[in-house]
Amino acid sequence: MDSFVFHNPTKLIFGKGKLEALKTELPRGGKILLVYGGGSVKRNGIYQRIRSLLDEIDAEVHELPGVEPNPRLSTVHRGVEICRSKEIDFLLAVGGGSVIDCTKAIAVGAKYDGDVWEIITRKAVPEDALPLGTVLTHAATGSEMNHISVITNWETKEKIGWASPRVYPRFSILDPTHTLTVPKEQTVFGIVDMMSHALEEYFSPASNVPLQERFVESILTTVIETAPKLVNDLENYEYRETVMLCGTMALNGVLKMGMKGDWATHNLEHAVSAVYDIPHGAGLAILFPNWMRYMVEKDTALTKFQQLAIRVFGVDPSLDDREIALQGIDRLSTFWSDLGAPSRLADYGIGEDALDVLADKAMQDGPFGRLRTLEREDVLEILRMSL
Ligand code: NZQ
Ligand code: ZN
Repeated sequence: MDSFVFHNPTKLIFGKGKLEALKTELPRGGKILLVYGGGSVKRNGIYQRIRSLLDEIDAEVHELPGVEPNPRLSTVHRGVEICRSKEIDFLLAVGGGSVIDCTKAIAVGAKYDGDVWEIITRKAVPEDALPLGTVLTHAATGSEMNHISVITNWETKEKIGWASPRVYPRFSILDPTHTLTVPKEQTVFGIVDMMSHALEEYFSPASNVPLQERFVESILTTVIETAPKLVNDLENYEYRETVMLCGTMALNGVLKMGMKGDWATHNLEHAVSAVYDIPHGAGLAILFPNWMRYMVEKDTALTKFQQLAIRVFGVDPSLDDREIALQGIDRLSTFWSDLGAPSRLADYGIGEDALDVLADKAMQDGPFGRLRTLEREDVLEILRMSL
Protein backbone atom coordinates (compact mmCIF):
# COMPACT_ATOMS: atom_id res chain seq x y z
CA MET A 1 0.00 0.00 0.00
CA ASP A 2 1.13 3.57 -0.60
CA SER A 3 0.96 5.81 2.44
CA PHE A 4 -1.86 8.31 2.31
CA VAL A 5 -3.79 11.09 4.01
CA PHE A 6 -7.54 11.07 3.57
CA HIS A 7 -9.44 14.28 4.26
CA ASN A 8 -12.68 14.95 2.42
CA PRO A 9 -14.55 17.88 3.97
CA THR A 10 -17.62 17.85 1.68
CA LYS A 11 -20.88 17.37 3.52
CA LEU A 12 -22.99 14.97 1.48
CA ILE A 13 -26.75 15.47 1.80
CA PHE A 14 -28.40 12.55 0.04
CA GLY A 15 -32.04 11.63 -0.56
CA LYS A 16 -35.51 12.61 -1.71
CA GLY A 17 -36.60 16.12 -0.73
CA LYS A 18 -33.18 17.19 0.50
CA LEU A 19 -33.19 20.39 -1.56
CA GLU A 20 -34.73 22.10 1.48
CA ALA A 21 -31.30 21.86 3.12
CA LEU A 22 -30.26 24.86 1.02
CA LYS A 23 -32.07 27.02 3.56
CA THR A 24 -29.74 25.97 6.35
CA GLU A 25 -26.54 25.36 4.40
CA LEU A 26 -26.43 28.75 2.64
CA PRO A 27 -25.76 32.02 4.47
CA ARG A 28 -28.99 33.95 5.19
CA GLY A 29 -29.04 37.21 3.23
CA GLY A 30 -25.90 36.20 1.30
CA LYS A 31 -24.91 37.35 -2.17
CA ILE A 32 -25.13 34.15 -4.15
CA LEU A 33 -23.99 33.36 -7.67
CA LEU A 34 -26.24 30.66 -9.10
CA VAL A 35 -24.34 28.74 -11.80
CA TYR A 36 -26.15 26.40 -14.20
CA GLY A 37 -25.99 24.90 -17.69
CA GLY A 38 -27.90 25.11 -20.93
CA GLY A 39 -31.45 24.98 -19.59
CA SER A 40 -32.25 21.49 -18.27
CA VAL A 41 -32.75 22.94 -14.78
CA LYS A 42 -35.47 25.25 -16.06
CA ARG A 43 -37.21 22.54 -18.08
CA ASN A 44 -37.44 20.15 -15.13
CA GLY A 45 -38.39 22.77 -12.53
CA ILE A 46 -35.33 22.53 -10.25
CA TYR A 47 -34.37 26.13 -11.02
CA GLN A 48 -37.77 27.49 -9.97
CA ARG A 49 -37.70 25.52 -6.70
CA ILE A 50 -34.20 26.75 -5.89
CA ARG A 51 -35.10 30.37 -6.62
CA SER A 52 -38.00 30.23 -4.20
CA LEU A 53 -35.86 28.61 -1.49
CA LEU A 54 -33.28 31.37 -2.00
CA ASP A 55 -36.04 33.95 -1.62
CA GLU A 56 -36.97 32.39 1.70
CA ILE A 57 -33.46 33.07 3.06
CA ASP A 58 -33.40 36.61 1.62
CA ALA A 59 -30.51 35.85 -0.69
CA GLU A 60 -29.35 38.41 -3.23
CA VAL A 61 -29.10 36.17 -6.28
CA HIS A 62 -26.98 36.73 -9.38
CA GLU A 63 -26.81 34.19 -12.19
CA LEU A 64 -24.33 32.59 -14.55
CA PRO A 65 -26.37 30.49 -16.99
CA GLY A 66 -25.12 28.63 -20.07
CA VAL A 67 -22.17 26.64 -18.76
CA GLU A 68 -21.27 24.30 -21.63
CA PRO A 69 -20.61 20.55 -21.40
CA ASN A 70 -16.77 20.58 -21.38
CA PRO A 71 -16.89 23.98 -19.65
CA ARG A 72 -14.89 26.77 -21.20
CA LEU A 73 -12.39 29.21 -19.78
CA SER A 74 -14.37 32.10 -21.31
CA THR A 75 -17.36 31.13 -19.13
CA VAL A 76 -15.13 30.92 -16.05
CA HIS A 77 -13.93 34.45 -16.84
CA ARG A 78 -17.54 35.67 -17.03
CA GLY A 79 -18.23 34.14 -13.62
CA VAL A 80 -15.12 35.69 -12.06
CA GLU A 81 -16.18 39.07 -13.40
CA ILE A 82 -19.65 38.77 -11.80
CA CYS A 83 -18.11 37.70 -8.48
CA ARG A 84 -15.88 40.75 -8.44
CA SER A 85 -18.44 43.32 -9.57
CA LYS A 86 -21.27 42.02 -7.35
CA GLU A 87 -19.10 41.07 -4.38
CA ILE A 88 -20.46 37.54 -4.33
CA ASP A 89 -19.90 35.60 -1.13
CA PHE A 90 -21.16 32.10 -2.00
CA LEU A 91 -21.32 30.07 -5.23
CA LEU A 92 -24.12 27.58 -5.87
CA ALA A 93 -23.60 25.13 -8.75
CA VAL A 94 -26.74 23.40 -10.04
CA GLY A 95 -26.02 20.77 -12.68
CA GLY A 96 -23.60 18.04 -13.68
CA GLY A 97 -19.82 17.88 -13.59
CA SER A 98 -19.37 20.69 -16.11
CA VAL A 99 -21.30 23.22 -14.04
CA ILE A 100 -19.55 22.15 -10.85
CA ASP A 101 -16.08 22.24 -12.44
CA CYS A 102 -16.74 25.70 -13.86
CA THR A 103 -17.90 26.88 -10.43
CA LYS A 104 -14.73 25.55 -8.79
CA ALA A 105 -12.60 27.53 -11.24
CA ILE A 106 -14.67 30.67 -10.61
CA ALA A 107 -14.23 30.14 -6.86
CA VAL A 108 -10.44 30.38 -7.06
CA GLY A 109 -10.42 32.89 -9.93
CA ALA A 110 -12.46 35.37 -7.92
CA LYS A 111 -9.81 35.41 -5.21
CA TYR A 112 -6.78 35.53 -7.49
CA ASP A 113 -5.26 38.74 -8.86
CA GLY A 114 -4.01 37.24 -12.13
CA ASP A 115 -5.78 35.17 -14.80
CA VAL A 116 -7.37 31.98 -13.43
CA TRP A 117 -5.79 30.09 -16.37
CA GLU A 118 -2.49 30.35 -14.46
CA ILE A 119 -4.06 28.27 -11.69
CA ILE A 120 -5.59 25.78 -14.11
CA THR A 121 -2.25 25.31 -15.87
CA ARG A 122 -0.57 24.94 -12.46
CA LYS A 123 1.64 28.01 -12.84
CA ALA A 124 0.06 29.42 -9.69
CA VAL A 125 -1.28 27.81 -6.53
CA PRO A 126 -4.59 29.16 -5.26
CA GLU A 127 -4.32 30.58 -1.77
CA ASP A 128 -7.96 31.42 -1.30
CA ALA A 129 -11.36 30.62 -2.80
CA LEU A 130 -14.98 31.62 -2.45
CA PRO A 131 -17.04 28.89 -0.74
CA LEU A 132 -19.22 26.76 -3.00
CA GLY A 133 -22.05 24.26 -2.68
CA THR A 134 -23.67 22.03 -5.28
CA VAL A 135 -27.02 20.57 -6.27
CA LEU A 136 -26.11 17.61 -8.46
CA THR A 137 -28.43 16.82 -11.39
CA HIS A 138 -26.39 14.18 -13.25
CA ALA A 139 -24.55 11.14 -11.87
CA ALA A 140 -21.14 10.85 -13.51
CA THR A 141 -17.99 12.68 -12.51
CA GLY A 142 -17.84 12.68 -8.71
CA SER A 143 -17.04 16.41 -8.89
CA GLU A 144 -19.74 16.96 -6.24
CA MET A 145 -17.42 15.42 -3.63
CA ASN A 146 -13.90 16.03 -4.86
CA HIS A 147 -11.41 18.82 -5.36
CA ILE A 148 -10.94 18.31 -9.11
CA SER A 149 -12.05 20.54 -11.99
CA VAL A 150 -11.55 20.17 -15.75
CA ILE A 151 -11.61 23.30 -17.91
CA THR A 152 -11.23 23.74 -21.68
CA ASN A 153 -9.46 26.68 -23.27
CA TRP A 154 -11.23 26.65 -26.62
CA GLU A 155 -8.77 29.12 -28.17
CA THR A 156 -5.70 26.96 -27.54
CA LYS A 157 -7.71 23.70 -27.68
CA GLU A 158 -6.42 22.58 -24.29
CA LYS A 159 -8.53 20.66 -21.79
CA ILE A 160 -6.83 20.58 -18.42
CA GLY A 161 -7.67 18.89 -15.14
CA TRP A 162 -6.46 20.66 -12.00
CA ALA A 163 -7.14 20.24 -8.30
CA SER A 164 -6.99 22.22 -5.10
CA PRO A 165 -8.15 21.38 -1.58
CA ARG A 166 -9.75 24.86 -1.56
CA VAL A 167 -12.49 23.82 -3.99
CA TYR A 168 -14.07 20.89 -2.19
CA PRO A 169 -17.76 21.82 -2.12
CA ARG A 170 -18.89 22.82 1.40
CA PHE A 171 -21.98 20.71 0.78
CA SER A 172 -23.54 18.74 -2.05
CA ILE A 173 -27.22 17.92 -2.27
CA LEU A 174 -27.89 14.65 -4.07
CA ASP A 175 -31.58 14.00 -4.58
CA PRO A 176 -31.88 11.18 -7.15
CA THR A 177 -35.20 12.73 -8.23
CA HIS A 178 -33.13 15.51 -9.83
CA THR A 179 -31.56 12.99 -12.20
CA LEU A 180 -34.80 11.42 -13.49
CA THR A 181 -34.82 13.70 -16.54
CA VAL A 182 -31.28 12.94 -17.73
CA PRO A 183 -31.68 11.59 -21.31
CA LYS A 184 -30.60 8.04 -22.10
CA GLU A 185 -27.45 8.99 -23.95
CA GLN A 186 -26.15 11.22 -21.13
CA THR A 187 -27.13 8.60 -18.56
CA VAL A 188 -24.97 6.06 -20.40
CA PHE A 189 -22.02 8.48 -20.64
CA GLY A 190 -22.27 9.05 -16.89
CA ILE A 191 -22.24 5.30 -16.26
CA VAL A 192 -19.17 4.86 -18.45
CA ASP A 193 -17.43 7.73 -16.67
CA MET A 194 -18.01 6.44 -13.14
CA MET A 195 -16.94 2.92 -14.14
CA SER A 196 -13.83 4.40 -15.74
CA HIS A 197 -12.95 6.24 -12.54
CA ALA A 198 -13.16 2.98 -10.62
CA LEU A 199 -11.05 1.25 -13.28
CA GLU A 200 -8.41 4.01 -13.33
CA GLU A 201 -7.93 3.51 -9.59
CA TYR A 202 -7.92 -0.29 -9.94
CA PHE A 203 -5.02 -0.18 -12.39
CA SER A 204 -2.58 1.05 -9.81
CA PRO A 205 0.93 -0.34 -9.45
CA ALA A 206 0.48 -0.50 -5.64
CA SER A 207 0.63 -3.97 -4.09
CA ASN A 208 -1.28 -5.37 -1.11
CA VAL A 209 -4.47 -3.42 -1.70
CA PRO A 210 -7.09 -6.19 -1.31
CA LEU A 211 -9.71 -4.03 0.37
CA GLN A 212 -9.33 -1.21 -2.13
CA GLU A 213 -9.61 -3.63 -5.05
CA ARG A 214 -12.82 -5.02 -3.60
CA PHE A 215 -14.20 -1.50 -3.12
CA VAL A 216 -13.64 -0.95 -6.85
CA GLU A 217 -15.09 -4.33 -7.78
CA SER A 218 -18.18 -3.67 -5.68
CA ILE A 219 -18.82 -0.36 -7.45
CA LEU A 220 -18.33 -2.00 -10.84
CA THR A 221 -20.58 -4.98 -10.09
CA THR A 222 -23.28 -2.72 -8.65
CA VAL A 223 -23.26 -0.52 -11.76
CA ILE A 224 -23.18 -3.56 -14.06
CA GLU A 225 -26.21 -4.98 -12.27
CA THR A 226 -28.17 -1.70 -12.28
CA ALA A 227 -27.28 0.16 -15.49
CA PRO A 228 -29.09 -2.11 -18.00
CA LYS A 229 -32.29 -1.84 -15.93
CA LEU A 230 -31.90 1.92 -15.63
CA VAL A 231 -31.48 2.59 -19.36
CA ASN A 232 -34.76 0.77 -19.95
CA ASP A 233 -36.55 2.57 -17.12
CA LEU A 234 -35.03 6.05 -16.92
CA GLU A 235 -37.49 7.38 -14.37
CA ASN A 236 -36.94 4.58 -11.86
CA TYR A 237 -35.97 6.28 -8.60
CA GLU A 238 -34.22 3.29 -7.06
CA TYR A 239 -31.96 2.65 -10.05
CA ARG A 240 -31.10 6.36 -10.20
CA GLU A 241 -30.36 6.34 -6.47
CA THR A 242 -27.99 3.37 -6.75
CA VAL A 243 -26.11 4.81 -9.70
CA MET A 244 -25.88 8.26 -8.11
CA LEU A 245 -24.11 6.96 -5.02
CA CYS A 246 -21.79 4.83 -7.18
CA GLY A 247 -20.77 7.93 -9.16
CA THR A 248 -19.88 9.86 -6.03
CA MET A 249 -18.01 6.97 -4.41
CA ALA A 250 -15.97 6.30 -7.55
CA LEU A 251 -14.14 9.63 -7.36
CA ASN A 252 -14.37 11.07 -3.86
CA GLY A 253 -10.95 9.85 -2.81
CA VAL A 254 -12.00 6.69 -0.98
CA LEU A 255 -10.74 4.42 -3.78
CA LYS A 256 -7.42 6.27 -3.81
CA MET A 257 -6.57 5.25 -0.26
CA GLY A 258 -3.22 3.51 -0.44
CA MET A 259 -3.14 3.24 -4.22
CA LYS A 260 -2.48 5.80 -6.91
CA GLY A 261 -4.40 4.96 -10.05
CA ASP A 262 -3.19 4.91 -13.65
CA TRP A 263 -5.25 7.74 -15.22
CA ALA A 264 -3.61 7.50 -18.67
CA THR A 265 -6.95 6.92 -20.39
CA HIS A 266 -8.36 10.11 -18.89
CA ASN A 267 -5.37 12.04 -20.25
CA LEU A 268 -5.97 10.53 -23.68
CA GLU A 269 -9.68 11.33 -23.55
CA HIS A 270 -9.06 14.93 -22.50
CA ALA A 271 -6.87 15.33 -25.59
CA VAL A 272 -9.66 13.98 -27.82
CA SER A 273 -12.42 16.10 -26.29
CA ALA A 274 -10.16 19.19 -26.28
CA VAL A 275 -9.93 19.00 -30.06
CA TYR A 276 -13.30 17.45 -30.99
CA ASP A 277 -15.52 18.55 -28.07
CA ILE A 278 -17.04 15.06 -27.71
CA PRO A 279 -18.73 13.98 -24.45
CA HIS A 280 -16.18 12.77 -21.89
CA GLY A 281 -17.98 9.45 -21.23
CA ALA A 282 -18.20 8.73 -24.96
CA GLY A 283 -14.46 9.22 -25.37
CA LEU A 284 -13.76 6.89 -22.45
CA ALA A 285 -16.03 4.16 -23.84
CA ILE A 286 -13.95 4.20 -27.01
CA LEU A 287 -10.48 4.49 -25.48
CA PHE A 288 -10.57 2.48 -22.25
CA PRO A 289 -10.97 -1.03 -23.72
CA ASN A 290 -8.19 -0.28 -26.20
CA TRP A 291 -5.83 0.98 -23.50
CA MET A 292 -6.58 -2.26 -21.63
CA ARG A 293 -5.91 -4.42 -24.71
CA TYR A 294 -2.64 -2.59 -25.25
CA MET A 295 -1.58 -3.29 -21.65
CA VAL A 296 -2.34 -6.99 -22.09
CA GLU A 297 -0.48 -7.04 -25.42
CA LYS A 298 2.56 -5.60 -23.59
CA ASP A 299 2.17 -8.10 -20.71
CA THR A 300 1.60 -5.30 -18.21
CA ALA A 301 -0.03 -6.33 -14.92
CA LEU A 302 -1.68 -9.36 -16.51
CA THR A 303 -2.78 -10.77 -13.15
CA LYS A 304 -4.73 -7.59 -12.42
CA PHE A 305 -6.60 -7.86 -15.72
CA GLN A 306 -7.33 -11.53 -15.00
CA GLN A 307 -8.60 -10.74 -11.53
CA LEU A 308 -10.95 -8.13 -12.95
CA ALA A 309 -12.18 -10.51 -15.65
CA ILE A 310 -12.89 -13.31 -13.20
CA ARG A 311 -14.33 -11.36 -10.29
CA VAL A 312 -16.32 -8.70 -12.14
CA PHE A 313 -17.10 -10.19 -15.54
CA GLY A 314 -17.42 -13.84 -14.54
CA VAL A 315 -14.83 -15.12 -17.03
CA ASP A 316 -13.94 -18.82 -16.74
CA PRO A 317 -10.75 -18.98 -14.59
CA SER A 318 -9.61 -22.24 -16.20
CA LEU A 319 -8.87 -20.53 -19.53
CA ASP A 320 -5.40 -19.53 -20.66
CA ASP A 321 -4.06 -16.45 -18.73
CA ARG A 322 -4.11 -14.02 -21.62
CA GLU A 323 -7.47 -15.33 -22.84
CA ILE A 324 -9.01 -14.61 -19.42
CA ALA A 325 -7.76 -11.01 -19.51
CA LEU A 326 -8.92 -10.43 -23.10
CA GLN A 327 -12.36 -11.94 -22.50
CA GLY A 328 -12.83 -9.61 -19.53
CA ILE A 329 -12.01 -6.59 -21.70
CA ASP A 330 -14.37 -7.81 -24.46
CA ARG A 331 -17.16 -8.18 -21.90
CA LEU A 332 -16.58 -4.64 -20.64
CA SER A 333 -16.65 -3.17 -24.12
CA THR A 334 -19.73 -5.21 -25.09
CA PHE A 335 -21.45 -4.08 -21.88
CA TRP A 336 -20.88 -0.43 -22.83
CA SER A 337 -21.91 -0.96 -26.48
CA ASP A 338 -25.08 -2.77 -25.39
CA LEU A 339 -25.98 0.24 -23.25
CA GLY A 340 -25.60 2.40 -26.36
CA ALA A 341 -22.12 3.89 -25.93
CA PRO A 342 -19.91 4.42 -29.01
CA SER A 343 -16.92 2.14 -29.53
CA ARG A 344 -14.91 3.79 -32.31
CA LEU A 345 -13.43 7.25 -32.89
CA ALA A 346 -15.01 6.96 -36.35
CA ASP A 347 -18.41 7.28 -34.63
CA TYR A 348 -17.44 10.96 -34.20
CA GLY A 349 -15.87 11.28 -37.65
CA ILE A 350 -12.34 11.10 -36.22
CA GLY A 351 -10.01 9.34 -38.65
CA GLU A 352 -6.38 8.41 -39.25
CA ASP A 353 -5.49 11.99 -40.26
CA ALA A 354 -6.26 13.22 -36.71
CA LEU A 355 -3.90 10.88 -34.90
CA ASP A 356 -0.75 13.02 -34.93
CA VAL A 357 -2.58 16.08 -33.64
CA LEU A 358 -4.24 14.04 -30.89
CA ALA A 359 -0.97 12.36 -29.90
CA ASP A 360 0.79 15.75 -29.71
CA LYS A 361 -2.03 17.11 -27.61
CA ALA A 362 -1.91 14.16 -25.23
CA MET A 363 1.87 14.35 -24.92
CA GLN A 364 1.67 17.94 -23.66
CA ASP A 365 0.96 16.18 -20.37
CA GLY A 366 3.21 13.23 -21.04
CA PRO A 367 4.79 10.77 -20.69
CA PHE A 368 1.97 9.65 -18.41
CA GLY A 369 0.30 6.59 -16.85
CA ARG A 370 1.38 4.75 -13.69
CA LEU A 371 0.82 1.11 -14.58
CA ARG A 372 2.89 1.64 -17.69
CA THR A 373 4.35 4.97 -18.79
CA LEU A 374 3.00 5.90 -22.20
CA GLU A 375 5.33 7.53 -24.70
CA ARG A 376 4.17 9.07 -27.97
CA GLU A 377 4.38 5.77 -29.90
CA ASP A 378 2.20 4.03 -27.29
CA VAL A 379 -0.36 6.82 -27.48
CA LEU A 380 -0.43 6.64 -31.26
CA GLU A 381 -0.94 2.89 -31.17
CA ILE A 382 -3.84 3.08 -28.68
CA LEU A 383 -5.48 5.81 -30.77
CA ARG A 384 -4.99 3.71 -33.91
CA MET A 385 -6.62 0.72 -32.21
CA SER A 386 -9.57 3.02 -31.37
CA LEU A 387 -10.22 4.28 -34.94
O1 NZQ B 1 -26.48 22.03 -19.73
P1 NZQ B 1 -27.78 21.40 -19.35
O2 NZQ B 1 -28.93 21.94 -20.09
O3 NZQ B 1 -27.99 21.40 -17.85
O4 NZQ B 1 -27.71 19.85 -19.83
C1 NZQ B 1 -26.73 18.94 -19.36
C2 NZQ B 1 -25.64 18.65 -20.39
O5 NZQ B 1 -26.11 18.86 -21.69
C3 NZQ B 1 -27.39 17.58 -19.21
N1 NZQ B 1 -28.04 17.41 -17.90
C4 NZQ B 1 -27.47 17.49 -16.68
N2 NZQ B 1 -28.39 17.22 -15.73
C5 NZQ B 1 -29.56 17.00 -16.38
C6 NZQ B 1 -29.34 17.12 -17.75
N3 NZQ B 1 -30.31 16.96 -18.67
C7 NZQ B 1 -31.56 16.65 -18.21
N4 NZQ B 1 -31.83 16.51 -16.89
C8 NZQ B 1 -30.86 16.67 -15.95
N5 NZQ B 1 -31.16 16.50 -14.65
O6 NZQ B 1 -26.34 16.64 -19.33
C9 NZQ B 1 -25.38 17.17 -20.24
C10 NZQ B 1 -24.00 16.84 -19.75
O7 NZQ B 1 -23.73 17.52 -18.54
P2 NZQ B 1 -22.23 17.61 -18.03
O8 NZQ B 1 -22.24 18.36 -16.75
O9 NZQ B 1 -21.34 18.11 -19.12
O10 NZQ B 1 -21.85 16.07 -17.78
P3 NZQ B 1 -20.87 15.42 -16.78
O11 NZQ B 1 -21.43 15.44 -15.41
O12 NZQ B 1 -20.55 14.12 -17.38
O13 NZQ B 1 -19.56 16.34 -16.78
C11 NZQ B 1 -18.60 16.25 -17.80
C12 NZQ B 1 -17.42 17.17 -17.54
O14 NZQ B 1 -16.74 16.82 -16.32
C13 NZQ B 1 -15.35 16.57 -16.59
C14 NZQ B 1 -15.39 16.08 -18.01
O15 NZQ B 1 -14.13 16.13 -18.62
C15 NZQ B 1 -16.39 17.03 -18.63
O16 NZQ B 1 -15.78 18.27 -18.90
N6 NZQ B 1 -14.81 15.67 -15.58
C16 NZQ B 1 -14.71 16.14 -14.32
C17 NZQ B 1 -14.17 15.40 -13.29
C18 NZQ B 1 -14.10 15.92 -11.92
N7 NZQ B 1 -14.36 17.19 -11.69
O17 NZQ B 1 -13.78 15.18 -10.98
C19 NZQ B 1 -13.60 14.07 -13.53
C20 NZQ B 1 -14.07 13.46 -14.80
O18 NZQ B 1 -13.17 12.45 -15.16
C21 NZQ B 1 -14.26 14.38 -15.93
O19 NZQ B 1 -13.05 14.60 -16.65
ZN1 ZN C 1 -13.95 10.87 -16.00
